[in-house]
Amino acid sequence: MAPIRWSPPPPLLLLLFFFAAAAAPATATEEDPSAPTPPPSPTPWPERFHAVMFTNLTNYSYASTGPPLRITDLYYDWPRRRNLNLVRHQLSGDPLHDVEWNNGTSFYFDDSSCRVERFHVGVLPPWWLSGGGAEYAGRAVAGGIECHVWGKAGFIFYYEEVATGRPVRWDFIDVTGIQQFVMRFEPGKALEDDKQWQAPAYCFMDDDDDEGKGKRNGDGEEVGDGFEEAIRILRELAGAAATS
Ligand SMILES: *[C@@H]1O[C@H](CO)[C@@H](O)[C@H](O)[C@H]1NC(C)=O
Ligand SMILES: *[C@@H]1O[C@H](CO)[C@@H](O)[C@H](O)[C@H]1NC(C)=O
Ligand SMILES: *[C@@H]1O[C@H](CO)[C@@H](O)[C@H](O)[C@H]1NC(C)=O
Repeated sequence: MAPIRWSPPPPLLLLLFFFAAAAAPATATEEDPSAPTPPPSPTPWPERFHAVMFTNLTNYSYASTGPPLRITDLYYDWPRRRNLNLVRHQLSGDPLHDVEWNNGTSFYFDDSSCRVERFHVGVLPPWWLSGGGAEYAGRAVAGGIECHVWGKAGFIFYYEEVATGRPVRWDFIDVTGIQQFVMRFEPGKALEDDKQWQAPAYCFMDDDDDEGKGKRNGDGEEVGDGFEEAIRILRELAGAAATS
């Protein structure tokens, strides 16, 4: 697997800022130039929510090991310090589970295989973006929705609806080019079904192997094919949020 590029290629970054700025002229001219307002701050995430996301790994050459289009159910559960992604590839059967725990352990499993990864940071806190380090990139229309856009640490661009503060979209600035579009957002909704959170027995069969695969440079493409790139980035953001 190619290493994560921690800083984005400058031309891409500039291009994205350009698009964000180009989408904003109507708003800019309406504001009184003599009374500059500070840039808006991102809305913290609710402590619990369910989101349905359409995901496109836009870098098809990277995604050639697996289908690039997915529907992801995200159950974010900060009070219990856990996070679940149910990832369904286009026309696939059983979903891929990605269960993340605050002790840094992530389980990726489907109905036949499992991979365990250990990270040095826990689950993203609700303030991972609002708590500092987000750079305002202006307004943009995403999927017809008027949004504020922020970048963070060269990892991600995050779109939130101007009118409601709901998340609308995020783009990872990495080799996968993952774009996730929030199709449904349900604050407060939890997934109580413990079976969905519990990693199956075959995740715990070979601890030595898991340790090896848990290393950041492990190959580990058999489960997930590209999705873990995004998870790694989010884990890094969690680390940054925890220390800021
Ligand atoms: C996914 O991304 C690729 C590359 O940007 C684009 O060509 C394609 O139209 C997108 N697919 C969908 C369904 O949005
Ligand atoms: C982290 O927590 C999960 C869920 O309780 C558990 O299955 C896993 O073994 C833990 N990992 C470590 C390294 O303790
Ligand atoms: C897309 O993926 C290929 C293969 O992994 C990689 O060489 C290339 O740099 C990626 N493109 C971008 C824009 O990151």
